[in-house]
Amino acid sequence: MPGRRTIPPERTVPRARIAVLISGTGSNMAALLYASRLSDAPFEIVLVASNDPSAPGLALAAAEGIATFALAHKGLPRAEHEAQMEAAILAADADYIALAGYMRVITAETVSHWSGRMLNIHPSLLPKYTGLDTHARAIAAGDSHGGVSVHLVTEELDAGEVLGQIAVAIQPGDTADTLARRVLFAEHQLYPRVLADYVSRGNNPEHLLARVRELALALPETHERSSHGSPGFRVGSEKSGKFFAHFADQHHGVEHIGLLVKTGSMDELENLVETQPQAYYKPAYYGASGWVGLILNRPGVDWNHIGEWLERSWRAVAPPRLTKLMNAADDF
Ligand code: GAR
Repeated sequence: MPGRRTIPPERTVPRARIAVLISGTGSNMAALLYASRLSDAPFEIVLVASNDPSAPGLALAAAEGIATFALAHKGLPRAEHEAQMEAAILAADADYIALAGYMRVITAETVSHWSGRMLNIHPSLLPKYTGLDTHARAIAAGDSHGGVSVHLVTEELDAGEVLGQIAVAIQPGDTADTLARRVLFAEHQLYPRVLADYVSRGNNPEHLLARVRELALALPETHERSSHGSPGFRVGSEKSGKFFAHFADQHHGVEHIGLLVKTGSMDELENLVETQPQAYYKPAYYGASGWVGLILNRPGVDWNHIGEWLERSWRAVAPPRLTKLMNAADDF
């Protein structure tokens, strides 16, 4: 229609569902909650749970219309308490757990259920000062800065990958309390930002390309070379290598971030696209010569499977001396 504006199709990425665990004030939980109320927030808080039924943060969450769950840990075996907390989190259909001043150590079993999906905020510049009394220890050590870290939770206490940090200057005369109060300002900035970035990684082309690059360059005699302005991966020498994969970030109006790899035949390509349209697409130009697009920006993408496709595509174009080596390794 003349004069009518064309509105680009909206990207309807569902918001990540977060359960927040607290033991006390819950000021970090409040920072996450109000950040989630911004119109472009990529996450929502679906549950606030506590091991202390009198934790002030529970009342705040309830007043804001968030579901809450409280179960005192006293008198319950650790595993029993944790199982009930986890059941509430599962019932809320949470995708991620954000620990926000949750002062209970979590068992290895629960940590493994939530591997890569449980974050914690810790009031020190990790790897310095894991555990308790972080501010007092930083002051006693004569450090110029304290600070805060957000990290992934792994079995070892406060030792998972650090996702973000802010340093906070220690002032003359600071006590653990005065420093803690200033670090909290930094905490409230850091946690919402890191959580938002973390849950958005699956739609972030830089993150997706980094994962592809790691897998592609782990294959023998590979290098990266851009092709028509997009990153690609080749096997063989710099001079005469052949492409086995192309990274395509929303090419030619396609909404996907994809990885193009070689299929065995046009029949295979058409079949994949027809039967699994959520995972595969036929790319412009390359599709005509049997390359299929693997959709990377979708929930539940299986990176082992992406790695298998890369290897298969590598085998399809690698020189025989390399594929022979690979076959021999397989038989071994
Ligand atoms: C925060 O300073 C947080 O970093 C810390 O507890 C406080 C909770 O405050 N967490 C830990 O020490 C974890 N080991 P809040 O309840 O107001 O968010």
